[in-house]
Amino acid sequence: MISFVNLTAQREKYRFELEKAEREVLDSGCYIGGPQVQALEKELSEYLGEKIHAITCASGTDALTIALMAMGLCPGDEVIVPDFTFIAPAECVSILGSTPKFADIDRETLQIAPESVKKLIGPRTKGIIAVNLFGQSAPFKELRKIATEHKLWIIEDSAQAFGAKVSSNGDIQKACSFGDIAITSFYPSKPLGCYGDGGALFTANEDLAQKIRMIANHGSAGRYQHEIVGMNSRLDALQAAVLRVKLKHLNEELPVRRQNAAKYDAFFAEYNRTAAAGEKIVPQKIAEGNDSTYAQYTVLAENRESFIQKLTAAGIPHCIHYPAPLHEQPCFGSSEVRNANAKWASEHAVSLPVCAFTNVAEIIEKLKV
Ligand SMILES: Cc1ncc(COP(=O)(O)O)c(C=O)c1O
Repeated sequence: MISFVNLTAQREKYRFELEKAEREVLDSGCYIGGPQVQALEKELSEYLGEKIHAITCASGTDALTIALMAMGLCPGDEVIVPDFTFIAPAECVSILGSTPKFADIDRETLQIAPESVKKLIGPRTKGIIAVNLFGQSAPFKELRKIATEHKLWIIEDSAQAFGAKVSSNGDIQKACSFGDIAITSFYPSKPLGCYGDGGALFTANEDLAQKIRMIANHGSAGRYQHEIVGMNSRLDALQAAVLRVKLKHLNEELPVRRQNAAKYDAFFAEYNRTAAAGEKIVPQKIAEGNDSTYAQYTVLAENRESFIQKLTAAGIPHCIHYPAPLHEQPCFGSSEVRNANAKWASEHAVSLPVCAFTNVAEIIEKLKV
């Protein structure tokens, strides 16, 4: 049986280190916060570059909510979010009484389209949440230009992309350092995942970092002293210990994910040369200079139904990320929005297994039959 994300093979490989780290926490009597969480935050910020503060919390969704609270989002404000992604960015805006405005995506990279963002800016717009979809960084150069011109902030949703980077004119910038605040998720199947829920926020701004820490801890900077209304959002020590082990191996796993993606790319290029009309499979385009984490390998199948039949017959696990543009979800349901590319992607996208423990050669052999 092939798994979509082979977490058991990963655990087997790091078993000795993981069990030692887990045992240390269980024997320590310190289960929330404490030295493991502090050490993880230090290591996360070292990974990104010393200037970036890392603050852990209970999930990627909480991290988005905390980021929006730190930015001072108020009921009646508007935030621009991509129409084709997981629901969390739009949901977090709504839960704070604000309105998500859904931007269309680029049809090839599947990332939020700056041209569409521009059209949505109005007097109530406060910021943009840009998602690094499937592990590839969003077009931050263009987005930052728009944000600066219109005095908007950017929250970078890097739930799927901790470890991604972008090279441009000899400079390399890591994902989680593009936004005024960035977030990630440590959901188990993410490129850097723990064994439960977990998340983190990142910012280079000292004041924002302090505010984020307070919000995540009941609005409190000192014991039983509550400056602002916050929430309880903590990463526990066991998850931090697991993440510290996995973080050490992230830079070994990411190149394997990229090699796996390259194998699929080569296969689908060949596949398309002989495919019948209307049966082409086009991988998500990775923009120049981008190193994706390949949270999943997503293709756009001209005929999704027949491709899925083929995958199912071959026993290849697959997922549809995502089956509808967000504006069509019943909780938002808006008939006014017309995002043709988001709609098209939701009708054609299929994701395939790509983690560092996936045998992509085996999958490709099955697809050749
Ligand atoms: C783009 C994006 N943002 C936010 C989240 C929320 O993360 P979590 O599941 O840790 O709350 C996810 C989770 O899949 C995601 O894919």
